[in-house]
Amino acid sequence: MKRIFEIDPWHITTDKFSIENRRLQESMTSLGNEYMGMRGFFEEDYSGDSLPGIYIGGVWFPDKTRVGWWKNGYPEYFGKVINALNFIKINTLINGHHLDLAKDTITDFKLDLDMKQGLLTRSFILVRGDLRIGFKFQRFLSLAQKELSAQQVTVTNLSAKSVVLELQASLDADVVNEDSNYGDHFWNVTQQVAHETTGYMATETIPNNFGTPRFTLGVGMTNQVQGLHAEAAKTSDLEVTNDFNGQLAPNATVVLDKKVIVTTSRDYETDQLQSKTEALLAKVSGASFAQLLAAHAQAWAQRWQISDIQIQGDAEAQQGIRFNLFQLFSTYYGEDKRLNIGPKGFTGEKYGGATYWDTEAFALPVYLGISDPKVARHLLEYRHQQLPGAVHNAQQQGLKGALYPMVTFNGIENHNEWEITFEEIHRNGTIAYAIYNYTRYTGDDSYLKTQGIDVLVGIARFWADRVHYSKRRQKYVIHGVTGPNEYENNVNNNWYTNLLAQWTLKYTLATLPKVSSDKAAQLQVSSEEAQHWQDIIANIYLGVDEETGVFIQNDDFFDKDIRPASSLKPEERPINQHWSWDKVLRSPFIKQADVLQGIWYFIDDFDMATKKRNFDFYEPLTVHESSLSPSVHAILAADLNEDDKAVEMYARTARLDLDNYNNDTEDGLHITSMTGAWLAIVQGFAGMRIRDGKLHFKPFLPKQWTAYQFRVLFRGRLIEVNVDATGTTLKLRQGEPLTVDLAGDSLNLTREDR
Ligand code: BGC
Repeated sequence: MKRIFEIDPWHITTDKFSIENRRLQESMTSLGNEYMGMRGFFEEDYSGDSLPGIYIGGVWFPDKTRVGWWKNGYPEYFGKVINALNFIKINTLINGHHLDLAKDTITDFKLDLDMKQGLLTRSFILVRGDLRIGFKFQRFLSLAQKELSAQQVTVTNLSAKSVVLELQASLDADVVNEDSNYGDHFWNVTQQVAHETTGYMATETIPNNFGTPRFTLGVGMTNQVQGLHAEAAKTSDLEVTNDFNGQLAPNATVVLDKKVIVTTSRDYETDQLQSKTEALLAKVSGASFAQLLAAHAQAWAQRWQISDIQIQGDAEAQQGIRFNLFQLFSTYYGEDKRLNIGPKGFTGEKYGGATYWDTEAFALPVYLGISDPKVARHLLEYRHQQLPGAVHNAQQQGLKGALYPMVTFNGIENHNEWEITFEEIHRNGTIAYAIYNYTRYTGDDSYLKTQGIDVLVGIARFWADRVHYSKRRQKYVIHGVTGPNEYENNVNNNWYTNLLAQWTLKYTLATLPKVSSDKAAQLQVSSEEAQHWQDIIANIYLGVDEETGVFIQNDDFFDKDIRPASSLKPEERPINQHWSWDKVLRSPFIKQADVLQGIWYFIDDFDMATKKRNFDFYEPLTVHESSLSPSVHAILAADLNEDDKAVEMYARTARLDLDNYNNDTEDGLHITSMTGAWLAIVQGFAGMRIRDGKLHFKPFLPKQWTAYQFRVLFRGRLIEVNVDATGTTLKLRQGEPLTVDLAGDSLNLTREDR
C-alpha cells in the first residue's frame, strides 16, 4: 500500500512533487470524457521518468501477434489503443532555458484533480538564482463539447527583474507506445497547417496487414495570449508549433489559452476533418476558458446529482467512492454505442484499451443503477453488433455458435495467451447473464426478444458443442478451461463455467417461446436441438465436495495443499510478482472470486447455509490479485451479515488505486474495478436486490461510518436511500409512486415522502 495524495472529499491533491512517483501521479490525475482521455503527464517537456499518453476512444491498431510458439487458433493481431499525438504540449522557456521539473528547483508545488468539475490544476514557483516565476497549468476535456480539450497556462514574474518568457504551444506527433513490439510509430502525418496562433495536423494510422480500418485524426488548435509576441508559426516533420515570446516585467502575468479540437474518421469522412475541426474551433474560440469550464462543470454536476454517494464519518471511504465514479464516468457514459470500457480506460496502455468481460460483469450493473437505461442498452447492443466476430471466434476453435472474446475491439478475439484465448470461455456466460441482468432491472424485454436472443442462441450453441458427455461419470463435462481464477489453467469442470453454461441454456430455452414467430424462424432452434440442451441442463456436472458440501472450484482442487492466504509472508505478496508461475499454479491461492462469482450472480438462488459454507471456504484462499475480486466478496460478506469483512473488502476496492494496493497503478488505473466500490455499497451494505420486478433493500451501517446516502434510478424513478444510526429512509425524488421492500417491509414511496 502506498498513499501519495491527501484525503479530501472532492479532490485528489498533493503538495509533494515526486520524481519517483511521477507515473503513479500521472495515472491518478487522468482525465477523460469518453470520447478521449489522457494521463496526468506534464504539458512541458519533462526529462524524468514518465508515461505520457493521450488516447482517443475507438481508435486502435492491430499489432502483429508475436509469440514464442504459435498455436493454431491464435489471433493474428493484438489490438491496442495507441498513443495519439500530444496535443497538450506547451514547452516553456525562461531566459532561453527550458522549464524541466526533473532538473529545475521549484517550491510551492500543488497538484490537484478537482473531481466535482473535472479539472486538473498544477501550480508551483520556479526558482533559478534570484528569479522566481509562478506557474499555473489547468486543463480539462470537455463534457459539453466532446472534441474539445481546453488548457490555460498562467505565468507570473515574482522576481525583481524582467525575464524573457517563451511559450511554445504544439501538436506533436512524435509519440510512441511503450508496449509496441519495436518502438514503432503508429501514425503517419498526412497534413500540417500552421498560422501564427492556430495550427492543424492530420495523422493516419500506418497500414496494417489485417484489413482492419485505418483511422485518421484531425487535430486543430487555437492559442490566445495577451502580452507576448506571436512568432511566425513553425512546422517540422512531426510537429506544428505556435511560438509566443516577450519580456515579462516584475509582477506581470501572462495567460495562454490553448483550445484543441480533435475530430476522427470514426465520425467524419477523412476529407472533411479539417473543415469540421475548424468549424468546431470557431464555435469555441470566442468563449473564455472560464465559460468553457462552466459548461463542462455543469455536465459533471448533472452526473453527480444522480450518482454521488455521500459517506459521513469516513473521509477515506468518501474520497474512494468519488474517485471511482469520476474515473469510471470519465471513461464511459454511454454516449457512443460503438465504444466500451477498457480495463485501464484512457489511463494507460496495459490491456490495450480493449473490451473485456469486465464490462458486463462489473460495469453494467453500476450503469443500470445510476445512468439512463440507454447506457446499459448501448453496452448490450455493442455485443450484438459484434456477434459475427463471436461466431468467427468459435469457428477458429472448431466449434459451433458464438464465443465472445476475452479481449476485443471488433468482436474478434485479440488475446494471444492460450490459457485465456482458448480456455477462459467463462466470459461467454457473462455476456448472456448481462442480458438477463438488464431485463430484470429495467423490466424492458424488448432487447431480449429482438437482439438479445440472437446472442443467447449463439452462446447456447457454443456451450452445447463445447461440453462432452463422460460415460464414466454419466454427466456432461467441460474440460480444458481456465476459470476466473487465472492462477490455475487447463482445469476440468470449473464449477462457475459449468454453472453459466447450464444457466445460459436454460435462459435461452425459457426466452425462445417469447420471441416473434419471424425471429424464431430465423433462429431455427429445432426441437432436437432444444432437447439436447435440456439434456445438458439436467445432466451437467457441478461438483460438490461430499465432506464439506462446498462447490468444487474444479476437478482436483481439493487435492491441493489447502492453506489460507494468511499463511503467506507479506514479502511473498502479490504472489504473481514474487513466485514462479509453476508455484502459483500449484498453490491453492485464488486470484479472484470464482465459485463466489457464480454465487454472486445468482445470489437469491442459494440458501444462506450454502452461501456461508462456500464463502468460509473460498474467501480465506483468495488473494484478490485481480482488482475485480474484493467487491464480490464484499457483497457476499454483507449478504451473510459479516459486516466487518464487507467493510474490509470495500476498503480494498474503493481505494485500490488511491492506495496502490496491487502495486501496479503506475501502469494506469483499474477502471473496470472502479465499479467495485459502488457495488459493495449498494448491493453490499445496502443489500439492493431486484426480485420479481420489485426493488429490495436491507441496509446496514458500517461501524466506521455515521451515515451514508446514495441514489438509484429504477424504472423511471430516482430513489434516495439514507442510512444512519437511526435506520434507513427511502425517498422518491422523481417518478411515479413505487412499492419497495425494506428489510421485509413493503413501503409505498410517493413524492410526498420528500
Ligand atoms: C483478470 C481478468 C480481467 C482482466 C482485465 C485480469 O487480471 O484476471 O478477469 O478480465 O484482468 O481486467
